[in-house]
Amino acid sequence: MVTLNRGFALTWLGHSTFKLVTRGGRTVLVDPWVEGNPACPKELKSFDRMDVMAITHGHGDHMADAVTLAKKYQPVVVCNYEISLYLSRKGVAHVQAMNKGGTQQAAGVRFTMVHALHSSGIEDGGQVIYGGEPCGYVVTLEDGTRIYFAGDTGPFSDMALIHELYEPEIAVLPVGDLFTMGPREAALAARLLRPRILVPCHHGTFPALTGTPDALRAELASRGVDVEVVALRPGETLS
Ligand code: NI
Ligand code: MN
Repeated sequence: MVTLNRGFALTWLGHSTFKLVTRGGRTVLVDPWVEGNPACPKELKSFDRMDVMAITHGHGDHMADAVTLAKKYQPVVVCNYEISLYLSRKGVAHVQAMNKGGTQQAAGVRFTMVHALHSSGIEDGGQVIYGGEPCGYVVTLEDGTRIYFAGDTGPFSDMALIHELYEPEIAVLPVGDLFTMGPREAALAARLLRPRILVPCHHGTFPALTGTPDALRAELASRGVDVEVVALRPGETLS
């Protein structure tokens, strides 16, 4: 447990999956991948409730459990337009599509969709279905706290715009390398985003993801970027 004393709880379920419980008691699941997620603690694969599910892109390690969990817990699903069509075809209700630059409210929490530099194909029955563009989210809680979930992305200079527009206090960034930014790129991203707290993710799940929080700290130090790295373990909570 890492304490901020702000009334919300952000729990890393491993890889890129996060459970956010707001001060108002709303539960948000970002990137629903729990069943096949080797890093997700068993006891965190089921939920007391789920008010919102937010999906960054179509890859299995981000939405493999979207249909199952959405049918079980009936959350509002926030995602891009193409993924919304896919989920609707699969019988998911309460899908609220959006696109980059836009903001919408779900269960009292505001979601702003921002750019990500990645891909978003959905694997389904041996085919790859077009999943629209990958994205990140700036999530604004009831008390105004803003958390940026980058999703899978490489670094891009418009991260400076995300800082200028939304000033997220907490940035959740992938650091594992290979399919996303590694520590060097994430350190540069942090310089542009200027969060107070950086939560690394998308590392340690598989041996191929070699970037680590320690390597990130070293890269930040060598660039003189002042940010607190909160390296959660899977199942651990920032609250
Ligand atoms: Ni991906
Ligand atoms: Mn991924």
